Amino acid sequence: MKGGEPMSDNKTILDYETVDIDFETGELVIIDQTKLPAKTEIIRLSTAKEIWDAIYLLQVRGAPAIGVSAAFGIYILASKIENDTYDGFYDELVKQRDYLDSSRPTAVNLHWALMRMDGLAQSTIKECKSNDISYEEGYKRIIEALKNEAVKIKEEDIWVCKQIGEYGLSLVKPGDGILTHCNAGQLATCKYGTATAPIYLGQERGYNFHVFADETRPLLQGARLTAYELHSAGVDVTLICDNMSAMVMKNGWVNAVFVGCDRVAANGDTANKIGTSVVATVAKRYGVPFYVCAPTSTIDMDTATGDEINIEQRKAEEVTEMWYKERMAPEGVKVFNPAFDVTDNELIAGIVTEYGIARAPYKEAFEEIFKKKKEAKINIL
Ligand code: MRU
Repeated sequence: MKGGEPMSDNKTILDYETVDIDFETGELVIIDQTKLPAKTEIIRLSTAKEIWDAIYLLQVRGAPAIGVSAAFGIYILASKIENDTYDGFYDELVKQRDYLDSSRPTAVNLHWALMRMDGLAQSTIKECKSNDISYEEGYKRIIEALKNEAVKIKEEDIWVCKQIGEYGLSLVKPGDGILTHCNAGQLATCKYGTATAPIYLGQERGYNFHVFADETRPLLQGARLTAYELHSAGVDVTLICDNMSAMVMKNGWVNAVFVGCDRVAANGDTANKIGTSVVATVAKRYGVPFYVCAPTSTIDMDTATGDEINIEQRKAEEVTEMWYKERMAPEGVKVFNPAFDVTDNELIAGIVTEYGIARAPYKEAFEEIFKKKKEAKINIL
């Protein structure tokens, strides 16, 4: 991995691209989120191993940002494939696709983006073959098509988040208290975030929200990333420990919860950062509506219920040692460290997508949302 580039002092974290590409050098360019907020460092990645590691280590994280990184990543790797037949090229591409896909199991956007790039490669190969185009010329066309598709995936993400923000904003009113968990902010997407999109749009329009950010153990995405980016934007944000959400809700300080998600099953069960289902349960107890903000790329109609979602398990050290000056748990103690949990659909008041707000029964609502998406055929670029 190449060395980090220092950031200039007069910018805020929101002035930087979460995920970008340098077309001249063929490098994926990301903010190393493991260093935030103490140090803002831009890193450049060009090999499959570097990109895989960056996703696994959470240097880039958040379902949509992982998807965009994978799209740029597979384009970069495809542009280095040396072969002389279409079939040979495609076999190599599939190997690289599956390797990147193995970096994290729960966020479906990773698989979604890779399969979208794969589909484009396949259709371009088919077209070239049926027009008797030489491999040399066809290869150039495939790479150009992959480049355009990756850029489109990033542009779409920005549009999608803005739409989620507009629909989310319709669910709250000026002066409301909003609680969020983990980071589904700009740092998890290309702009606006998903759960934070209504907050940023409200901020632009003078809504004066009071936001509570759960710190989000064990990797502290709420403290390190959400509190950081909202504070940088001038939003009134209060950081709380994960075990404080019941108190702030009981006190009547929260009018709505907005969270992101990594995979939504067809029945509306939703995987998001560990602890999300606790927040949803507490919200139900205190009558606070709990909303999940989900790009349609995160809705997985092939997964029937939350029971089928593969939950990533991570290293014990994240719980026992990370962030502490010294180890905080006895040597040899058993540790359970799932990165995500599943919130049952009955705890969710609505799932906010870029095509509207889905409400129970979710399967039917999603079918309606996907119908709208198909009819819209929006050309983002
Ligand atoms: O492990 P992380 O930091 O990638 O987990 C991120 C989350 O759980 C987010 O809420 C989710 O990916 C949605 S991001 C818009």
